[in-house]
Amino acid sequence: MKAKILVNKNFSIGEIDKRLYGSFIEHLGRAVYGGIYEPDHPTADKDGFREDVADLVKEMNVPVVRYPGGNFVSGYNWEDGTGDKSKRPRREELAWGVIETNQVGIDEFQQWAKKVDSQVMLAVNLGTRGPQDAKNLVEYCNSENDSYYASKRRENGFEKPFGIKLWCLGNEMDGEWQICHKTAEEYGRTAAEAAKMMKWTDPSIELVVCGSSGPGMGTFIDWERKVLEETYNNIDYVSLHSYYNNIDENTPEFLAKSTEMNKFIKDVVSVCDSVKAKKRSNKTVNLSFDEWNVWFHSRNDHVERWSVAPHQLEDVYNYEDALLVGCLLITLQNNADRVKIACLAQLVNVIAPIMTENGGKAWAQTIFYPFSYASNYGRGTTMNAVITSDKYSTKHFKDVPYVEASVIDNKEKNELVVFAVNRSLDEDAELETCFEDYGKVTLIEHVELYNDDLKAINTKDEENVSPVNVPLGDDLTATLKKHSWNMLRYKY
Ligand code: AHR
Repeated sequence: MKAKILVNKNFSIGEIDKRLYGSFIEHLGRAVYGGIYEPDHPTADKDGFREDVADLVKEMNVPVVRYPGGNFVSGYNWEDGTGDKSKRPRREELAWGVIETNQVGIDEFQQWAKKVDSQVMLAVNLGTRGPQDAKNLVEYCNSENDSYYASKRRENGFEKPFGIKLWCLGNEMDGEWQICHKTAEEYGRTAAEAAKMMKWTDPSIELVVCGSSGPGMGTFIDWERKVLEETYNNIDYVSLHSYYNNIDENTPEFLAKSTEMNKFIKDVVSVCDSVKAKKRSNKTVNLSFDEWNVWFHSRNDHVERWSVAPHQLEDVYNYEDALLVGCLLITLQNNADRVKIACLAQLVNVIAPIMTENGGKAWAQTIFYPFSYASNYGRGTTMNAVITSDKYSTKHFKDVPYVEASVIDNKEKNELVVFAVNRSLDEDAELETCFEDYGKVTLIEHVELYNDDLKAINTKDEENVSPVNVPLGDDLTATLKKHSWNMLRYKY
């Protein structure tokens, strides 16, 4: 099969905000306890954080990490996770039916974020709590005043404010599984008032309002419209969440699911802009795709109720999951004009690229690799490339191109970076690239992720899926193997 990418230096889609490569740590399963934090682990630092995990997170180059939930946040008292650890309460945690020990809270998490060179994206509880508690948390984290919550922070040993700039106004408030789920009207009003109080406390913060928990929600679009009509002037981004699965064991259909993500993004952009027009506003609300991933392998797990940090949602990802994650990243990059923030959900153990064993090893799952390369090399401007390849159709998707690709111009490095997935299960693609107005362009690197077995996995002892460098030819053409993920770097 032949495929072609045509890029002209003058035609771009938009600047990639580095926060497109964010991730997410929720108080859920072993994400925190046994994941990032394990004081008895041989690699634990003086604060109890695992160095082996921190090293893998740094390798992924994650600029922002959403915290502390997720469903968890809708029942969370943030004060429980501050101050003297020996006095912190053990709580019955209703979102996931476990006991929360509160040994990690915002005091510790912001330290961990610094350790891994990241920023915190902090969610407030708009389920069981409300605007006043949200305001108090902003004061605790960001205020330099001689005031109650800023002084509490100083008493807890943090003289300087944490300086948290990005905040989520609750989580998935449209979902009836959410603790204190709300209607769009109820949530819109609460979010608008919380937003005002939070920004009055610190005008430099940015706020993400909850959109739908997925495009399959019955209230999708009406929810966004109503919530945005209430909050438009007070917020900066609207959230999108979506998880993808291969429950039907149909790989061509599964690999086409990034087109569903693309449609979801376009639909949310439309509703944002229609509210903008209705309000005669000059302000543009952009998108925060702050939960996305493949999620289904762990769906039949049994978790013991009221246990502490159980094995929960520990999806073991296979090679075809990595291919879809590659396609989803390409989709996010190709929507860089409107999607400014995105969080791979999640980061460690819970539906995550990094797995650990308690007291033992930490390792990279298959999906670790497309993410790391995208985050490390996918920085700059997404180009408006014309990509042509053969297409296929499935029951749910029509005219899916076999080759899915993005082209990013990194002007600081004079580099063009192509991310490309060949979705064909039986044919290699000969990729021709044509870069107009760039002068001489040279292919300098071709990294490939490939395994003949679509179900291959990585374990603590065996790395079956990992990238390799492909020897380069004399010209700009490259072979994209059947069902492979690729990164091609060019110098100009
Ligand atoms: O990421 C796991 C869960 O998925 C989150 O807690 C929730 O927001 C979503 O439903």
